[in-house]
Amino acid sequence: MYDNNPTLEGLDLNKPLEEFRQGEALGIAAMELAQEGKKFYIESYGCSMNFSDSEIIAAILFEDGFSLTRNFEEADLILLNTCAIRDNAEQRVRKRLSEFKHAKKNRPGVLIGMLGCMAERLKENLLEQEKLVDIVCGPDAYRDLPKLVKNADSGQKGVNVLLSREETYSDISPIRLDTNGVTAFISIMRGCDNMCSFCVVPFTRGRERSRNAFAVIAEAQDLYERGYREVTLLGQNVDSYKWENPETGQVISFAQLMVMVAEVNSALRIRFSTSHPKDITDEVLYAIAKYDNICNYIHLPVQSGNSNVLERMNRTYNREWYLERIAAIQRIVPDCGISTDIITGFCGETEAEHQDTLSLMEMVQYDMAYMFFYSERPGTLAARKYVDDVPHEVKLRRLNEVIEVKKRQAAIKNQADIGKTFRVLVEKPSKRSDKDMSGRNDQNKLIVFPAEKLKPGTYVNVKVTSASQATLIGELV
Ligand code: SAH
Ligand code: SF4
Ligand code: F3S
Repeated sequence: MYDNNPTLEGLDLNKPLEEFRQGEALGIAAMELAQEGKKFYIESYGCSMNFSDSEIIAAILFEDGFSLTRNFEEADLILLNTCAIRDNAEQRVRKRLSEFKHAKKNRPGVLIGMLGCMAERLKENLLEQEKLVDIVCGPDAYRDLPKLVKNADSGQKGVNVLLSREETYSDISPIRLDTNGVTAFISIMRGCDNMCSFCVVPFTRGRERSRNAFAVIAEAQDLYERGYREVTLLGQNVDSYKWENPETGQVISFAQLMVMVAEVNSALRIRFSTSHPKDITDEVLYAIAKYDNICNYIHLPVQSGNSNVLERMNRTYNREWYLERIAAIQRIVPDCGISTDIITGFCGETEAEHQDTLSLMEMVQYDMAYMFFYSERPGTLAARKYVDDVPHEVKLRRLNEVIEVKKRQAAIKNQADIGKTFRVLVEKPSKRSDKDMSGRNDQNKLIVFPAEKLKPGTYVNVKVTSASQATLIGELV
């Protein structure tokens, strides 16, 4: 059955791993840290990659003598790690920035830094547009942050938005922010070489590059030893992960990397995001099927169910290809949770093309979907080539139709889980009541169940007794 099985045969795994384990000052959680000196405050927006980057930024600043504060009013340095994916993401950041005005008024020495994708997109212009901003630092320039802070302190410009072809921050041990002590992100690559016509990411994050596989495994192993029980491997397109060992010339694929992380310990769960429909291989699916600790859950963004729209989006697959990949997932990993991203009202989208998105949703029956209306981003292929011609109210109406289908499907799928028993990794007390705990099953569904004083990080079996649209409710068995 596993003829497409990724194999680790011939890979010399141990030696470099030892080097990494000794060479790295391995990660620590933010609350374990306190040191004299200046304080920084950081807020993150956008995708998991940005949240993961904030943990690298924290490590770089800590190394420079800064300590972390949760209260921006006592910070010497206020950082916003920003997102540029849609216009409303940028508007949120601008609004938040205006709220920092009084912090700056009361304490003129306070520095405000814009990091991440919006910083990369707007570059020096940000200093002109947003008078409050003292530092502008793009996603590949975080090592330079201590210097930029010093420059800004002495009244100079603190700007670095250079993108790199090599930077992966491989040697930096992230400081875990807002951690539950159970689940963590591991960045395995940076940038994106796809040119989806709607997307700003290739411009804000630069070329794709893969991180040293041994650094990834060392990070997973360290997390496991410190009690973490789930890691999510992050990249914009994880299926194109490809790292060549400079010493041996061996090339490690994503499927192989996933297996290497799964081998760290069978009690460490592996998740990953994001898969690209054009690149997800059967090899990856067989690895998921073979390893119990690689979660049966795939986020496979479709964007649109119509092949002409997909072509204009430059997604490089069509409806049939996508449905074939879904069929392969259902064949090889039968109980796999599947989620997606959908954009409504892309340039030139007709009513019939929109109907194809709805019909594709009916065919796939997603467990979960993230849905957006199209927001033109300056400089992208679509902005240059197509007219953003679907009226706003039509985009919204189509979005609502997509949301309605998703809600209905999620409710039906959750109802179907009633009576089933799932293995759940306990994460934290439930939001609703401190007498309940919450965690996720293999398929990434949130389950809440009565249990006091159950240690986060333990696995329990939970039988589902009822379900809402978003959450399963159960009891320990
Ligand atoms: N790398 C991932 C997606 C990263 S961005 C992938 O290839 O799927 C996350 C999601 O934001 C995208 O999947 C898309 O659905 C949405 N998105 C990106 N650009 C957008 C835009 N200009 N307008 C609306 N939604 C957008
Ligand atoms: Fe953007 Fe496409 Fe790259 Fe995803 S794969 S980050 S949507 S360009
Ligand atoms: Fe946003 Fe940048 Fe992520 S644009 S979605 S934070 S890669």
